[in-house]
Amino acid sequence: MTTISQYQGKVLVAGATGKTGQWVVKRLLHYGIPARVFSREREKAYALFGDSVEIATGKIQNAEDVANAVKGCGAVISALGSNAYSGESSPDEVDRDGVKRLVDEASRAGVKHFGLVSSMAVTKWYHPLNLFAGVLTKKWEAEEHLRSVFSGAGRTYTIVRPGGLKDGEPLQNRLHVETGDRMWSGWANRSDVAELLVVSLWAEKAKNLTFEVVSEAEEQQESLEPYYGKLA
Ligand SMILES: NC(=O)c1ccc[n+]([C@@H]2O[C@H](COP(=O)([O-])OP(=O)(O)OC[C@H]3O[C@@H](n4cnc5c(N)ncnc54)[C@H](OP(=O)(O)O)[C@@H]3O)[C@@H](O)[C@H]2O)c1
Repeated sequence: MTTISQYQGKVLVAGATGKTGQWVVKRLLHYGIPARVFSREREKAYALFGDSVEIATGKIQNAEDVANAVKGCGAVISALGSNAYSGESSPDEVDRDGVKRLVDEASRAGVKHFGLVSSMAVTKWYHPLNLFAGVLTKKWEAEEHLRSVFSGAGRTYTIVRPGGLKDGEPLQNRLHVETGDRMWSGWANRSDVAELLVVSLWAEKAKNLTFEVVSEAEEQQESLEPYYGKLA
């Protein structure tokens, strides 16, 4: 069933072929919001989404590819994530430089809103996860860049910092949200992270927020929009 949202515009999803990115696309389509996906592999994107989305093929390392991908989009949601210690899928190239490049090209193209999947504990340089090529610190640097570029002149951002990610349907759990990066453990469904970022497209209270999220208990939710009211 398609629900009509209050958001008008096309959304570029980076990292759309990933587990969270696929949920971002699903939830955009659920609300009838047109999506373009940015992927290194057209075949992989087409196998996942068929003709339901536009596909922009390219590398996150290539500024021209990124500029072409964001052209004409009103918003960007990034669920990019590294999966190699070094090389083109490393934290340096994806979580930091890739996201920064996407932010810069989006800003240049007049994109109005940027939603980012980051991570709990990004401010904790001493966290054990940082042994993976400093991944948390790279995400933190990308966050800082996004906040500086998208917090003025008619631009907005929303940064979601989930705990450990799990699979499962959206809106099945009561969430706990807070700011300040004070939590050390917890998990969240990728689908709820996606839903929070899709809702951030139109929820005024979601604008210019950075927050952490974990699941608290199994409990069906009608909407995740009220969580932004708790944070704002
Ligand atoms: N796993 C956790 O428990 C956890 C917890 C907190 C936060 N996070 C963060 O949440 C985000 C989403 O996680 P996930 O599990 O959904 O990630 P995922 O399934 O690994 O997806 C990552 C996405 O990034 C893309 N990507 C990787 N390297 C790329 C490159 N060089 N150029 C372009 N695209 C590239 C992948 O594309 P391909 O399909 O082409 O490889 C894929 O679409 C990540 O930033 C992750 O670090 C994860």
